[in-house]
Amino acid sequence: MSASTPAPKKLFIKTYGCQMNVYDSERMAEALASDGYETTDAPEGADMVLLNTCHIREKAAEKVYSELGRVKKLAAKKKADGGEMLVGVAGCVAQAEGAEITRRQPLVDVVVGPQAYHRLPELVAKAKQGEAAIDTDFPEEDKFARSRGPKAKRAPTAFLTVQEGCDKFCAFCVVPYTRGAEISRPADQVLAEARDLVERGVVEITLLGQNVNAYHGAGKDQDWSLAKLIRELAKVDGLERIRFTTSHPNDMDGDLIAAHGEVDKLMPYLHLPVQAGSDRILDAMNRRHTADEYIRLIERIRAVRPDLALSGDFIVGFPGETGAEFQDTMSLIREVNYAQAYSFKYSARPGTPASDLPLVDAAEASDRLQRLQTLLHQQQTDFQTSCVGKRLPILIEKPGRMNGQMIGRSPYLQAVHLQAASALTGTIVEADIIASKPNSLEGQLA
Ligand code: SAH
Ligand code: SF4
Ligand code: F3S
Repeated sequence: MSASTPAPKKLFIKTYGCQMNVYDSERMAEALASDGYETTDAPEGADMVLLNTCHIREKAAEKVYSELGRVKKLAAKKKADGGEMLVGVAGCVAQAEGAEITRRQPLVDVVVGPQAYHRLPELVAKAKQGEAAIDTDFPEEDKFARSRGPKAKRAPTAFLTVQEGCDKFCAFCVVPYTRGAEISRPADQVLAEARDLVERGVVEITLLGQNVNAYHGAGKDQDWSLAKLIRELAKVDGLERIRFTTSHPNDMDGDLIAAHGEVDKLMPYLHLPVQAGSDRILDAMNRRHTADEYIRLIERIRAVRPDLALSGDFIVGFPGETGAEFQDTMSLIREVNYAQAYSFKYSARPGTPASDLPLVDAAEASDRLQRLQTLLHQQQTDFQTSCVGKRLPILIEKPGRMNGQMIGRSPYLQAVHLQAASALTGTIVEADIIASKPNSLEGQLA
């Protein structure tokens, strides 16, 4: 008998938070694949469980500790069955808590911050030898430099991180502390990764960054802006659609606005958070622009791309927000008209400037959130309904739940259900939109 290769070890990654974490989880899986780890959908019996955590919501760290409590039981079971389960914590809670995690939950073998993922295989090796494996540094070297995996086929849509960290310091936000200062990846590295994704079957790329439109990556002769990067990406054959998220209003420069009118591959969908509609609150949040400046900005983008679907983020009940100031946010929403949006009740994040300000009454804040969400939901429904009767190019992505059904994506990032052959996966088809549901559309091949 010939020597058999060892069975792959099972890796379970649970991902919380933003798309950046989704992207990073994929990169971590790739990095660990070379160590013989294969991803699995369930934590039970896994050889390694990795929690890729988010620190943006209230009590984020506490939630991670209770999740670790559940993992502990699975690890005990694995041990009773004669195996061993490595446990790692990655992401923004890992960055914020560091060694505190292993002090509070000794079960944890590896703690790794978002800037140190390229060191994960070494950390795992250390942990296996019973050594402390904690790395929350912001190292000089590029965490993506070594993360090219095997040329495996990919789904038609992919994320590509181009920028990380944030220098904006909004008064409520932890990201500048957990992800650190703003950095951009060199343009040629981004282009190479994009070409590689396209070779592997990717048709639509979403460029990611906490402040993606502040992108200023090193190019051949000078730093490239996001607009320049998008114009170059648009030249890549086989790449049909380009998106980017998340943007800050102050970094929407003239060239990026122009690109929305000039680059066909750049999709007519923009996530541009404003957070609030009152100038006093915007100032207290350190957003550094007024409500009117935001509205004028939207007008300029819509002037070059009239069908632009707009998305945003809102915080209600920021410390000191009065009823009238909340109404300013409602007015802004009415004026802008969103296709889709995320909204949150303010909650204090330790270490942020706003964290010691007195809170708005909790019941009042909940009531405001509900009223705001009702309005946003109405606008979303109106937008969905307005698509019925239109013929749209749909990127076929994956099978749906019904027999013969496929799920695709409209230019406006809506899910579209339609009957189509699975062989059409990764192609863009024309479809007539025949019905709208709250979170999806129904289409028919034209
Ligand atoms: N860089 C992006 C996203 C940051 S986090 C941006 O600037 O838009 C995503 C969203 O979470 C934010 O836009 C904000 O609406 C919300 N958020 C962040 N901190 C919050 C807090 N302390 N309380 C409530 N919502 C918060
Ligand atoms: Fe946070 Fe503001 Fe930076 Fe967005 S721009 S990541 S909300 S500090
Ligand atoms: Fe959360 Fe970190 Fe992203 S705090 S939103 S996972 S940058």
